[in-house]
Amino acid sequence: MLSRVHSLGLRGAEGYPVLVELDLANGLPGFTTVGLPDGAVREARQRVSAALRNSGFGFPARKVTVNLAPAQARKQGSHYDLPIALAFLCACGQLGEGEWTRRFCFVGELGFDGGLRPVRGALAMALRAQEQGFSGIVLPRENAAEAAATGLPAYGAASLREVTDFLAGAPNATLSASSVQFGAPSAAVARPEAALDFSDVRGQRLAKRALELAAAGGHHVLLVGPPGSGKSMLARRLPSILPPLSRSEAIEVTRIHSLRGARTPSGLAALRPFRSPHHSASQAALIGGGPQAEPGEISLAHGGVLFLDELAEFNRAALEALRQPLEEGRVVVARARQTVEYPARFCLVGATNP
Ligand SMILES: Nc1ncnc2c1ncn2[C@@H]1O[C@H](COP(=O)(O)OP(=O)(O)OP(=O)(O)O)[C@@H](O)[C@H]1O
Ligand SMILES: [Mg+2]
Repeated sequence: MLSRVHSLGLRGAEGYPVLVELDLANGLPGFTTVGLPDGAVREARQRVSAALRNSGFGFPARKVTVNLAPAQARKQGSHYDLPIALAFLCACGQLGEGEWTRRFCFVGELGFDGGLRPVRGALAMALRAQEQGFSGIVLPRENAAEAAATGLPAYGAASLREVTDFLAGAPNATLSASSVQFGAPSAAVARPEAALDFSDVRGQRLAKRALELAAAGGHHVLLVGPPGSGKSMLARRLPSILPPLSRSEAIEVTRIHSLRGARTPSGLAALRPFRSPHHSASQAALIGGGPQAEPGEISLAHGGVLFLDELAEFNRAALEALRQPLEEGRVVVARARQTVEYPARFCLVGATNP
């Protein structure tokens, strides 16, 4: 018996469609995952089987083979648990296949109790699901607001049971579709008060004027002055005078931060990011890298401010590596397993003693 459920994968900051195929056969009981699964994906079988049993479903001892297509792309992350569990229920007839198997995408990590845990990169995946013409995405409740920011109906669920009841059309089983209204793409996102306010600064007319011009025009700034003259203080208050994020900028910012697991309850980031890495930061931490080619501080600062306090103390190679992203507003991180591009358009603020 064969079943298919749609899901999504992540390559850098981009989502791509993944089809979860599950085959149930007679033979020695086992659970095999193919399609270049990484650690967390291979472990899905333990989470899925425990979640199914603890949600009151049967887990018959059969030979289960899961294929994550396209087979040549490496699959990472724990978010295939939900589509694998649903494909299993369909294959053994505990859940009826229907319209939903063609129209919806599913992502979510399962706990042993059948609860759904939030995933990384929900916004990037929802954007791709929308491009692919799906009518909705079903995902953990915590990620629903973020995914709904794309305009695609996002159904947030707290557990596997909630999802299966909803799909089986059980009476009064509803998943609330989150929708976030922001109006036109150029409309600004409502901005909360920044914690540190520019009005705290006394005097320093010249430095204030320089920062105001930088905020308005998106220029880079270098603050030079003796210890205690207020350089760090001024720079940390810059976010409070930056222009509000437009909706498309807020989507970009949220998309990148979501890859690192950051969640915004309201759905979209409302404040421009302010990143101030310590001067011991490595080149990979600043520019992006690691085995999974993750975004670095310059991409996390996209749309906002990258503050390098004690600029002269930074490792020279790391500073030199900033040159190209500063010019291009993007960075290409190439690692043995994958090459990905991240946006990196930020306002660089440096501070140093003379
Ligand atoms: N113009 C100012 N208005 C209000 N507070 C100020 C001002 N200048 C300095 N301060 C206060 O002085 C303290 C030292 O300032 P800050 O740490 O920003 O100096 P700095 O120039 O970064 O020094 P260092 O070179 O040692 O890093 C801060 O606690 C700040 O509140
Ligand atoms: Mg300082």
